[in-house]
Parts: sequence; structure tokens; C-alpha cells
Amino acid sequence: MKDQHLISLTVNGEPHEVLAESRRTLADVLRHDLGYTGTHLGCEHGICGACTVLVDGVPARSCLMFGVQADGAEIGTVEGLADGDRLSDLQEAFSRRHGLQCGFCTPGFLMLAEAFLAENPGATREEIREAVSANLCRCTGYQGIVEAVTEVAESRRERA
Ligand code: FES
Ligand code: FES
Repeated sequence: MKDQHLISLTVNGEPHEVLAESRRTLADVLRHDLGYTGTHLGCEHGICGACTVLVDGVPARSCLMFGVQADGAEIGTVEGLADGDRLSDLQEAFSRRHGLQCGFCTPGFLMLAEAFLAENPGATREEIREAVSANLCRCTGYQGIVEAVTEVAESRRERA
């Protein structure tokens, strides 16, 4: 018999109840049970950061958490960034600054950067460089990613 638990998650503001097997990771609950497939799985070992989502506002590797551990939590995924057809400032900057090629790592970088900038609105390029080094990108060499996050940090500061 499967060891299942009824859990409640709010994902991008949408409440969900889902029967989750206790062995299922949060990443699998999001992708397979709830259809939020924007969260990508690379290593499934906590190394690459492709699966990064926000759990109560804090970036977390969703491959390293069980879904049942997130019971009652507010989850932010990449699907929550755009406003309808309008991309977020970070998404646009990644595109404009060539911060993505295959795009596989991009959801994880976007969620990481969102949380980092919310916590560190005055971050310098060096601090941003260090923050994004938490995640792995096999395509871009990081330059475009650092440029994109730095540009958004500057423009948000100007608007504040
Ligand atoms: S898939 Fe979770 S850190 Fe790589
Ligand atoms: S854009 Fe391909 S892995 Fe980062």
C-alpha cells in the first residue's frame, strides 16, 4: 500500500490539496501532481539548482525536500513570475542580455535571483556574481546571467 498524505500547498497564490506519497520530492509533487513543469530537474542531488523554487519566500532545492515537508507552505515557481503574457523584468533581462541559451537552468536562476534581490536590493555586481554561483549553467558562461541580474538590480534601485 502506498504511504500517502493529503497536503496543502499554495503555489503562486493558488491553493492546492494533493495526495502525495511520502517518498515524493517537492519537485515531483510540483511537476507531476500539480503540473508546474517549469521547475526543472537536473542532478536531483542538490548540486545544480535547476529545481530551485521559493518556499515561504526562501530559495530551496525542491529535489532535496519531500513534498510532505512543504505541507502548508507558500511555494513560488517560475510560472508565477510573468503577468499573463508580460514577462517579469528579470525574465526580459535574461533574454535581452543573453542569460539563457538552452534555458534548462533558467527557472532555477530566476527564482534564486528574485529571492536574492528581494533580500539584497543594494547588491553589487560582485555579490550578484557570488549569489548566482550557487546554480549551474552549462551553456552561458554566466556572463549574461550576471549582466541581467545586475541590470535589474540597478533599475529596481532607480525606481525605488
Ligand atoms: S535538480 Fe535539484 S539541485 Fe539539481
Ligand atoms: S542556458 Fe543551458 S544550462 Fe543554462
